[in-house]
Amino acid sequence: MREASPAYYASCSQSGEKRMRTRRGPEKRHSIFELMGQSVAIEQMHRQIQRVACTNFTVIVEGETGTGKELVARLIHEQSPRADKAFVAIDCGAIPESLVESELFGYVKGAFTGAEGRSELFGYVKGAFTGAEGRKAGYFELAKGGTLFLDEIANLAPTIQMKVLRSLQERCILPLGSTQSVPIDVRLVVASNAILEEEVCTGRFRADLFHRLNEFKIALLPLRERRDDILFLAERFRRETNAELGKQIAAFGADAKAYLLVHDWPGNVRELRNTVRRAVLLSNDVIELQHLRQRAAPPGAAPPCQGTRRHRTKAVAYMPSFMTPSSHSKKP
Ligand SMILES: Nc1ncnc2c1ncn2[C@@H]1O[C@H](COP(=O)(O)OP(=O)(O)OP(=O)(O)O)[C@@H](O)[C@H]1O
Ligand SMILES: [Mg+2]
Repeated sequence: MREASPAYYASCSQSGEKRMRTRRGPEKRHSIFELMGQSVAIEQMHRQIQRVACTNFTVIVEGETGTGKELVARLIHEQSPRADKAFVAIDCGAIPESLVESELFGYVKGAFTGAEGRSELFGYVKGAFTGAEGRKAGYFELAKGGTLFLDEIANLAPTIQMKVLRSLQERCILPLGSTQSVPIDVRLVVASNAILEEEVCTGRFRADLFHRLNEFKIALLPLRERRDDILFLAERFRRETNAELGKQIAAFGADAKAYLLVHDWPGNVRELRNTVRRAVLLSNDVIELQHLRQRAAPPGAAPPCQGTRRHRTKAVAYMPSFMTPSSHSKKP
């Protein structure tokens, strides 16, 4: 699957499901997104997604970076009755605070020319408001009939949190500069690296919004807490990359497997995927330890990062002593 867009612009995509269904008949649904794994945790996740997808429940997806939060959001959308409509994803942390309101709720012509000098503040150019209707739809409207995915929701400013709450309660939005509310029809999925209850306790996140959002929660375990998935995923990524690069890297060596199993994976599945892809590129036959490690850390050194602060549960040594640079395989 493709990675979440790093830019603040929404990645707004019509699901390919509609095209597929008309070609193959309504009973066949093939997703390009696959939540892979063989652990009990992944099995449970599949069941939760299946159960909640067909409802209109708002879903909170929590987990460390790279655990698959956006993947889960896309799967919920794909398995929902809204699959034929838009999936609009926004990274709330990446939109400048001064723009969030207009991006989410839209604006009408003249919204930025008032006494508050908003045009200077937002930096819009002349002619930005000359559309036929004199208004620009925000993401709540762009996701009409579909799913709106608010990534990193904990990064929303308190004033915007309040506006989101009101919009959800009233099922309508008020575009910037308008006095006329617009009805909305979206299913909301939100994601957070931080544990939202903790954000509420520390006053960073509104309790009322949290309770409005918390109709269903899916908490994704970090990879180090579902180690059953590591070799399974590594194999899948090896095969995928072989196909992509036209290579025939056959397997992982014993030291490489041991490393995969003991590493802490602070970047979770994303880190594992990148590590395996790089190793397939570097290797000529079998993936050995030196293909997996980008650089050797001194024995006993702390990892550069051990996952999201509030999700960190265990500290595992970065590299066991049997894998120090002097002991690792020296295959050319
Ligand atoms: N169980 C999984 N099976 C297959 N691929 C996965 C799985 N979990 C994550 N991935 C892959 O890992 C990468 C990161 O996933 P995703 O963007 O959904 O993570 P995230 O939790 O949203 O991360 P971040 O908090 O950094 O935005 C993607 O390429 C995704 O396809
Ligand atoms: Mg994400």
